[in-house]
Amino acid sequence: MARNLTQLELLLELEPVAEQNVDRHLSMAKDWHPHDYIPWDEGRNFAAMGGLDWEPGQSRLSEVARAAMITNLLTEDNLPSYHREISENFSQDGAWGTWVGRWTAEENRHGIVIRDYLVVTRGVDPVKLEQARMAHMTHGYNAMKLLQESGRVTTEMLAGTGFLHSVAYVTFQELATRVSHRNTGRVCDDPVADRMLQRIAADENLHMIFYRNMCGAALDLTPDQALEAINDIVQNFQMPGAGMPDWRRNGVLMAKHGIYDLRQHLEEVVLPVLRKWNVFDRNDFTARGDRVRNELGAFLDRLQQDCVRFEEQRDRALAREARKRELVNAEA
Ligand SMILES: [Fe+2]
Ligand SMILES: [Fe+2]
Repeated sequence: MARNLTQLELLLELEPVAEQNVDRHLSMAKDWHPHDYIPWDEGRNFAAMGGLDWEPGQSRLSEVARAAMITNLLTEDNLPSYHREISENFSQDGAWGTWVGRWTAEENRHGIVIRDYLVVTRGVDPVKLEQARMAHMTHGYNAMKLLQESGRVTTEMLAGTGFLHSVAYVTFQELATRVSHRNTGRVCDDPVADRMLQRIAADENLHMIFYRNMCGAALDLTPDQALEAINDIVQNFQMPGAGMPDWRRNGVLMAKHGIYDLRQHLEEVVLPVLRKWNVFDRNDFTARGDRVRNELGAFLDRLQQDCVRFEEQRDRALAREARKRELVNAEA
């Protein structure tokens, strides 16, 4: 059986790949400025400065768009949690350190621009938004702790190779946030919001490529070990918003209206990445990796069935709501 690499061995072996990918990222990344995406002349003072406080009628966003915007923003706001996770598992030195700093700075821009937009356009209640941010950031988010609670991995396993789990998690997570931002732009029904969210989604895509390339290189280096981490993450994936205020309600609304649902998760996030890593066609696994691959395949089959079930339920719920609206309209 192939020996597991230690965290230090992984970081040393993969450093040249990290360096190449940091260079690649810097050559592709576009400098952009949050202030260029905000319609500042729509801004007005709130009551504390002699103006008017927020009222629901001021928002031009639909209920679905508001739920998606808040979820996406709170996710971006929780950057300190993700920074902690990545910086604990990557080294501070060389290309690793450069990446952690650069990635964190880019992510921070996303929270800045979405908040500016929502406050200036009065898209959501700024008081409730601030309360939700306080609650969500105070609670923090720890993807690895959630993984441990699932009973799948132990603290000792993560202490040795947290890098593999982290890099697998962020690959899927960056792509998931890309899908979510892009589809949120679509439901906002405002070209200004759409342009801003497309800009963010383009950043998330570059982030995803960095992590996907790193995890892919780890898979080449230590196939069985990396596949075990990938399998743990795919089978226990939770969006980073899990646990935020109104998470269930907002998550259901987003799934129901095609911003982020199970089929998008499977077909636009999980499967393209696994395909890129060639997981189901590679021949460098030992019996240990083959077992994990079979388990992963069976899980994906179940997920496929869950998608069909979810869609059937969703279609029924949407039809019920449409009938209800018709009745209300007929009575009016
Ligand atoms: Fe982001
Ligand atoms: Fe990102």
